Amino acid sequence: MTVHFIGAGPGAADLITLRGRDLIAACPVCLYAGSLVPDALLGHCPPGARIVNTAPLSLDAIIAEMAQAHAAGQDVARLHSGDLSIWSAMGEQLRRLRGLGIPVSVTPGVPSFAAAAAAMQAELTLPGLAQSVVLTRSGGRASAMPPGETLANFAATGATLAIHLSIHALDRVVADLLPFYGPDCPAAVVWRASWPDQRVIRAPLAEMAARAQYIDRTALILVGPALAAEGFEDSRLYAQDYDRRYRPTGPRPRFPE
Ligand SMILES: C[S@@+](CC[C@H](N)C(=O)[O-])C[C@H]1O[C@@H](n2cnc3c(N)ncnc32)[C@H](O)[C@@H]1O
Repeated sequence: MTVHFIGAGPGAADLITLRGRDLIAACPVCLYAGSLVPDALLGHCPPGARIVNTAPLSLDAIIAEMAQAHAAGQDVARLHSGDLSIWSAMGEQLRRLRGLGIPVSVTPGVPSFAAAAAAMQAELTLPGLAQSVVLTRSGGRASAMPPGETLANFAATGATLAIHLSIHALDRVVADLLPFYGPDCPAAVVWRASWPDQRVIRAPLAEMAARAQYIDRTALILVGPALAAEGFEDSRLYAQDYDRRYRPTGPRPRFPE
């Protein structure tokens, strides 16, 4: 018996891995984390499966569901939105399950920042503009931010920021970032990326709070010079004179055939 943690993706029912889908289909118990996991994914559960929305449950109650399945020899599909490596609360479940000696597996999913970038048809790392993406959030009731992880500290790098769990604090986010990125820096709010009603709002940073004030809950705030850029250099990767193992060039190539 195994508890299979599965990244359910950002919302579109077909943005799950084949492995994740097949695991759901093979598990007689499915625990899913509330409304961000699309109903259509639950359609992959086998007939008669026990399907439980864990949104109203405590950690103790969720672990009790898993322990009960373990005792009955039944595999569990445990679905969380997006990918499991960020803000999934998987860590505390893994710790409890290890303590109980219950086997686990982890299958990654498409994270919401990637779905938001896809909705914008944007590459978040462009040569000369941004080579790093910071996945962050502002502090909330459930999780305070560690002291060094301020928006100002991340903004000082000029990297592309993908700010989660913060749309309710959009005014404050913009105010924190303006001194670093300036009023004309491209910004976007992507609401329900990949869902049928997805919405993308693009605006200069100084205008973003006014333009997106009616957006709430499932949205990402993206900020950085790469977001609207056309004036960037091509990467060297495909340059004619770039000497690389699969395309050696020049009289004395660094990677001879
Ligand atoms: C609890 S976190 C889950 C993150 C998730 N594990 C991931 O990989 O993206 C929820 C936050 O992720 C962002 N989010 C999740 N799904 C989204 C989507 N489809 N579109 C935009 N933002 C989304 C929002 O900022 C939301 O407040």
